[in-house]
Amino acid sequence: MLDNIRTIPVVSSADLDADVHSTFARYRSSFPFVTLDTGGSIVLRHDDVARLMSDSRLQATDIAMPVQAGITEGVLYDIFAHGMLTANGEVHARRRSAISRALANQVLDRFRQHLRQAATALIDASYESGRLELASGYAAKLPILALAGLLEVPDADLPAFPRDVYAMNAFFRPNPSEDAVADAETAALRVRNYLDALLAKAEANQSQGFLAQYLRFAEDDELSRSEVLVQIIQLIIGGTESVRTALIAQTVQLLSHPDQWRSVCADPTLVANAVAEGMRLEPGIAGVVRVSVQDIELDGWTLPAGQLVLLSAISALRDDRVFDRPDVFDMLRPNLRLTRLAFGGGAHKCVAEAMGRAELEEGLLILAERLPGLELENVPAFQGHMFVRKAGECWVRWER
Ligand code: HEM
Repeated sequence: MLDNIRTIPVVSSADLDADVHSTFARYRSSFPFVTLDTGGSIVLRHDDVARLMSDSRLQATDIAMPVQAGITEGVLYDIFAHGMLTANGEVHARRRSAISRALANQVLDRFRQHLRQAATALIDASYESGRLELASGYAAKLPILALAGLLEVPDADLPAFPRDVYAMNAFFRPNPSEDAVADAETAALRVRNYLDALLAKAEANQSQGFLAQYLRFAEDDELSRSEVLVQIIQLIIGGTESVRTALIAQTVQLLSHPDQWRSVCADPTLVANAVAEGMRLEPGIAGVVRVSVQDIELDGWTLPAGQLVLLSAISALRDDRVFDRPDVFDMLRPNLRLTRLAFGGGAHKCVAEAMGRAELEEGLLILAERLPGLELENVPAFQGHMFVRKAGECWVRWER
């Protein structure tokens, strides 16, 4: 059976960088997966991706990725070695539990109110200029302000906090340079030390906030200090670029379809639909990466054991077996609930999905409320087919 792997097409990263959607579409009808020229396989079809997210023959990657990049110590290494995202089984469940319970205890209405205030302040700051670069002026800032609110980062520590966060995140973008990796390690150390101090303050003040609650749950679960810190760092990593890209994607899609933008402005109950459809067309996270521990049969082909496997959300969410006219933005499509695949599935399903959705919905709601005459000046490129995705510069304008 292994022979058939030779006839599975090899897709180049360059083709995926140039046009990920049509490259995947070209292969999806004939093959359930393709091989990537840089190694590993990419699963393409919706039903396979959805099912395999909960399949124990695919395991989280543990420390394989930093080791492959030549990193065997330091904070970046610890993020993999002590984090939930890369852990399996009992270890994963123990690391995830405290964060999950502390997030569940947050009052979502209060969080949404905080987001509304933050989004309004961002628009107020550039309202008079009549134009805004959406990525740097809005979409990158809103998730940072959301996290800063959750972690009780004092105003005085903004803007150092976002600078360090985005420098750390650079490690997780496609093909980081050596300099970016070195800078990411320095920034990750600063973030970890800063969080350590925030935790100490929350302990000393006996606050009732997220951090204090998390610490109590983490103590019950006997997490080490490094595990405690790394799970918060993973919240920060997981909750920044993914939201930034999705915020830009949904705005671009809506402004490219003025009739649907006007509908959202007139009827805010459509915001959740617009968010879901925006994520379907350009998900913030490309897919989930696993390693196969056994052969897996897919449609008569064998996905061999011992490989990196990407379960591609980008491809799955445009599969025409499931989504009618998959390349068209239609926020009234009947099966929008299937777009939840953008948040993953199985044991590692996004631990902060409610928070992520709230950020995307409130971010859109405030734009629609404050700037109904918003127009797109340029359509940015969306890039990345492995981990977090990136959107290019995107200028928008409005009449004052
Ligand atoms: C548009 C927004 C978001 C998208 C598309 C998204 C997507 C995802 C996906 C696909 C996974 C599964 C990864 C895997 O199985 O390997 C995941 C997990 C995770 N996400 Fe999100 N996410 C978003 C927002 C957030 C936010 C706001 C946070 C934190 C504040 C966050 C934190 C995490 C963490 C910590 C995990 C790891 C869970 C685990 O391994 O058990 N995400 N997310």
